[in-house]
Amino acid sequence: MILSIESSCDDSSIAVTEIATKKILFHKKISQELDHAKYGGVVPELAARLHAEALPRILEQAKPFFPSLKAIAVTNAPGLAVTLVEGVTMAKALAMTLDLPLIGVNHLHGHIYSLFLEKEAKFPMTILLVSGGHTQVIEAEGYKSFRLLAQTMDDSFGESFDKVAKMLGLGYPGGPIVEAYAKKGDEDRFNFTVPLLNSPKIAFSYSGLKNQVRLQIEALGTLSEKDKYDICASFQKVATAHLLHKLKKILQKSSIRDFAIVGGASANLYLRQKVEALCREFDIQLHLAPLAYCADNAAMIGRCAIEAWQRKDFTPPEKLVSSPKQSI
Ligand code: KG4
Ligand code: ZN
Repeated sequence: MILSIESSCDDSSIAVTEIATKKILFHKKISQELDHAKYGGVVPELAARLHAEALPRILEQAKPFFPSLKAIAVTNAPGLAVTLVEGVTMAKALAMTLDLPLIGVNHLHGHIYSLFLEKEAKFPMTILLVSGGHTQVIEAEGYKSFRLLAQTMDDSFGESFDKVAKMLGLGYPGGPIVEAYAKKGDEDRFNFTVPLLNSPKIAFSYSGLKNQVRLQIEALGTLSEKDKYDICASFQKVATAHLLHKLKKILQKSSIRDFAIVGGASANLYLRQKVEALCREFDIQLHLAPLAYCADNAAMIGRCAIEAWQRKDFTPPEKLVSSPKQSI
């Protein structure tokens, strides 16, 4: 079995996965959303302190698995510097005390492997990664064989939902709240323009759309609940149309017949429906992670670590450092 630890942002999570069957035997996650909600976003130092309390509490429950462990895995990049180090330090201490190999996992690789929980991996695949920190399209050929096809030039997809929620005073994280508000709204009331619509660039940009929403909120002055519903619906429609517009260009040129969406924002059902329709149009098979494992979790880190274990892709404790800015 492999014990995996995730602390790259505001979720403290530990999982134990059986190597041979890929079964998740233990998975616990303590989210800090309520602690950060009053600040409208994640406060890194507060997140680090909360990880320092939560991780040992979860680890205590995983103790019965210790005699069966073959490796310790941990997210070491990318993420918040002060929170990554909480998990990395715990993983090093465990690996040295239990005399086990250590596996550093890239958080983005973990999101990709959330597609393959309790099953075999399938490549090649074109993957849209939409989270709070990233908006990327990746061509995945196999383990650690990932090519970046497109990424955001400024804000990420998930982050733009968080910022719209903050402007409307709706709380954090904004994604699920904005999606729920959008369901009750009229998506055609406000005509926000789709970013980079006339640009040949295969890239994403969300800061301009965020500003359009801010100007609309200012123009309305006092907002009724209906105004908020309509703003969320109109914003979500355009934010998603932007993704779809660029994805279409990518899929037109690709011969890969499998497509997936991963990351926290892949839980958005409106986005899922739109991408499902696009995949039908291109006769491409769509793969999605289970809803419960779209957001950050240690099970996806454990699943990726099984691939590392099979290849003996270990890192000595003195060499494992956290790399907050590392890319895919
Ligand atoms: O993958 P994740 O848990 O953390 C990062 O690695 O960043 O993604 C969190 C992000 C947040 O920005 C959150 O607002 C967004 O995913 N998110 C959503 C939805 N659920 C979570 N965005 C849009 N719609 C959702 N339903
Ligand atoms: Zn994530």
